[in-house]
Amino acid sequence: MTPILDVIEHELARPAARPLLQPERYPGPEVMAALHPLMLALTELLATARLADAEVPYGRYLAHLDPAGRYNLQWDVFSPHYTGGIHAHGTWGCFFVLRGTLHADDFAADTPAGPFELLRTSVHPPGSAAAFAPPQDWHRVATRGGPQVMSLHLYGPGFDLDRGVALDGMGQPATYTRGPLKDVSALRGLLSWS
Ligand SMILES: [Fe+2]
Repeated sequence: MTPILDVIEHELARPAARPLLQPERYPGPEVMAALHPLMLALTELLATARLADAEVPYGRYLAHLDPAGRYNLQWDVFSPHYTGGIHAHGTWGCFFVLRGTLHADDFAADTPAGPFELLRTSVHPPGSAAAFAPPQDWHRVATRGGPQVMSLHLYGPGFDLDRGVALDGMGQPATYTRGPLKDVSALRGLLSWS
């Protein structure tokens, strides 16, 4: 993980990254603009990595929790035919696809309570990345019958590792308890740089 963390730390130290450290003080578009250099640097770094062929159990793995609370880094492994709930993170986030193709649907609403409507759908093959930032960060991801997807997710300050917010059966935002994080040691050696 060290090369990835080095890139994140380098990018967050830049003055232009200030909206990423205090996202509540900036409009969402400014936060996402501040994410661009970080996303580009991580995309370029990940393009140089070698990913082992081994399949890994689906789930969420915590790769790194910043001691200063500025970000956390998670591996997400999605099974074929996975479709997640429509959710928001309450902070900025971006994902990087390493294996398989991840589909993302973005939703928007005129009021915080909805109704939420599908705004955009996109396809993210290996090597691609996408970002979200409040207040319009409602989205879901899916594999849509493709093979297992492995992706790296970077989330900003205030991300709650235990509880999330998703639309309930009535299409209303509601908190839920996240599933347990899996042991990241299961992914040891999966990513390497020569
Ligand atoms: Fe998400």
